[in-house]
Amino acid sequence: MKLNLLNKDTAIQKAKKFGLFDKNSDVHAVDILKEVDETEGLVNQIFLLFDPTRSVVLKQVLPFSLAISKYLGELHEIDPERIRLESRALTFFESFYHIAPKVYKVSKKDGLIFMEDLTGLNNLRYELSLGKIFPDFGIRIGRFLADLRYYTSELYLDSESKKRQDAYFENTDLRAKLTDMITGEDNAFHHLDSFLPEVRALQSRLLDDPKIINSIRELNQKLKANAECLCHMDLHTGNVLVSSGEIKILDSEFSGNGSTFMDLGRISSSFLINYLSWLAREDVDLQKRQLMQAYDLQMVHDLYEAFKLRLKEHVPDLYESLYKEIFQDSIRLMALSVILRLQSGIALSHDISLVKSHRRLAQIQKLAFEFLEAVFYEDFNEIQDVIDWVCTHA
Ligand SMILES: Nc1ncnc2c1ncn2[C@@H]1O[C@H](COP(=O)(O)OP(=O)(O)O)[C@@H](O)[C@H]1O
Ligand SMILES: [Mg+2]
Repeated sequence: MKLNLLNKDTAIQKAKKFGLFDKNSDVHAVDILKEVDETEGLVNQIFLLFDPTRSVVLKQVLPFSLAISKYLGELHEIDPERIRLESRALTFFESFYHIAPKVYKVSKKDGLIFMEDLTGLNNLRYELSLGKIFPDFGIRIGRFLADLRYYTSELYLDSESKKRQDAYFENTDLRAKLTDMITGEDNAFHHLDSFLPEVRALQSRLLDDPKIINSIRELNQKLKANAECLCHMDLHTGNVLVSSGEIKILDSEFSGNGSTFMDLGRISSSFLINYLSWLAREDVDLQKRQLMQAYDLQMVHDLYEAFKLRLKEHVPDLYESLYKEIFQDSIRLMALSVILRLQSGIALSHDISLVKSHRRLAQIQKLAFEFLEAVFYEDFNEIQDVIDWVCTHA
């Protein structure tokens, strides 16, 4: 396979070739993933390109994951077709909600997306690990997800428009791939070696639990089969940029039609992971840690409650039964997503990587598996029940 990995010079040449800059202009480049500390990217190459008149970000979408291939020592292929989904979804999210970078130019052949430079904003996962808070995040994203659930589904669209949308955002294979990573037969939950020996007994017991295993299988099938509305699919805080007033979501390469609970479950899991990290951040003042934990749980609460309220505004007669199912599926997916990002190795969430004590890390992992058991066994009806469980057990 020919790699054609861009470097800073060839990135500048491409930008000129595609007319983003004048060909005589003195353009500078920053390789964001290599040169900027607080970024998270496991798959592609990202360059900031600028001259005195403008700046753009260039994402090179490769037919494989750069970081994962390096980590595994073998090529980890991902369908390069995802550039179509990424550019279409970013464009949709931007026009629908101003919640994504503007897309300036796409070259499918070269695997290039030129987009708005948002380097003035910061990566949310890193901001949270530094103890920064963004109070209205939960409400804004909860509403956004409910609006997506409504306006891009048959709740709002006639069947012809929905069919057109399904074709435009066709993502069956990529959706299946991401779905399997979280809920497949070989998801993180099955990897005994990826967790500390202290949790092995509990993990093995849950792995032998037919109720849990069957329910995860059902989630997996649902995620693969359902195409109810447009979803981001990879919505975690590492794919969100924020400032005090702005929220932008990135990295929509798996986006397309899917199940709302994927987005609600995954974004809420980022806050639960951050909550768990503060249990063990002994380098930080206790009061500050408690403040962050309260904030994280408030975000989980707001995400679900704002989603529910907005859905109620859209479909007052249907929302109760719709929400009930979305809620149950979301909290289960939330638990599985926590496990995904707690496993050692390349997927380990940045905030958890800051935990230095082995004993504390084992406690966090154990809690995550207990949480997994609880979401499949306890009778949670509202998000507050889930939050109460966390407060009682942490
Ligand atoms: N338009 C942009 N403006 C500023 N930074 C960006 C932009 N796009 C990506 N980045 C930075 O690069 C990181 C990786 O980008 P992302 O699209 O998530 O790639 P990957 O698919 O490799 O995860 C992001 O977390 C963000 O910090
Ligand atoms: Mg990303």
